[in-house]
Amino acid sequence: MVRTDRHLTEDDLSKSLRRDVAEGLAAAPKTLPPKWFYDERGSGLFEEITRLPEYYPTRAERAILRERSGEIARASGADTLVELGAGSGEKTRLLLDALCAQGGPTGFVPVDVSGDFLEEAAARIAADHPGLRVHAVVADFERHLPLLPTGGRRMVAMLGSTIGNQTPEQRAAFLGDLRGTMEEGESLLLGADLVKDPARLVAAYDDAQGVTAEFNRNVLRVIDRELGADFDPGLFEHVAVWDPDREWIEMRLRARTAHRVRVEALDLEAAFAEGEEMRTEISAKFRKEGLKAELAEAGFTLERWWTDPDGDFSLLLARA
Ligand code: TRP
Repeated sequence: MVRTDRHLTEDDLSKSLRRDVAEGLAAAPKTLPPKWFYDERGSGLFEEITRLPEYYPTRAERAILRERSGEIARASGADTLVELGAGSGEKTRLLLDALCAQGGPTGFVPVDVSGDFLEEAAARIAADHPGLRVHAVVADFERHLPLLPTGGRRMVAMLGSTIGNQTPEQRAAFLGDLRGTMEEGESLLLGADLVKDPARLVAAYDDAQGVTAEFNRNVLRVIDRELGADFDPGLFEHVAVWDPDREWIEMRLRARTAHRVRVEALDLEAAFAEGEEMRTEISAKFRKEGLKAELAEAGFTLERWWTDPDGDFSLLLARA
């Protein structure tokens, strides 16, 4: 049983890509937004990142879920899992198995900007869980939260420390908006990477094999293809730096030489100086007290807090 709602078309995506690129290249310093990392090649590279020895967050979060999914299902009291940034992997399966094991009808609402990926994932999950009601939603969770299906007692999950890819301001707006669409008593399951030794953090975003570097440069290929630009990914170097004041990892692309780039679809040219850095992504790292306060500000009460045995990553349950 799979139903799909589409709130995003190819046309919407292409419009927002144009706007993001036009704004980002005009800004000082230049920026490019992270949403555009995940085309087919980008998603494949990210899968590879999750298996790298340096990239501990996926393994740590999976370890917590293996240990705690039954407890999470019971504590949430949920009969429906809404997953923002839909996963198809083992983490989603662990949660769904635990929810289904409570007996009673169970729903799954995977939400993602990528329609193709979503339909495949939804079909696979439905095939593995007879009786599960799967309602896939193609949407941008920064814009379409009010359009998500309601009903049942929902647990909204955002895993993989995706919350860390937003700035604190974006995060506050997002959490507030999300709370506004939830009923009292519904819950939020959030995966959040924790502050730790900067050397380990930097290594997780600048691996020895250079997979993260390729992933970062892939955004240039997306822009070349979608907007007829002539970025040469080889002219940009991957940079990952830890910002100790803001407690986030910042990913940048640094121009190796001075050069100009033309973006046909926007009829614009951008000049890069030698060594000029363009920000492509942040990945904020969290502390329990800080997150608790941000959640409270948005109208959520932190109820449960789990970490992996090494204390690298946390999974938390908060109540609306
Ligand atoms: N949510 C992931 C994180 O912040 C996304 C991510 C992992 C990522 N590695 C990356 C984003 C490298 C950009 C570049 O950890």
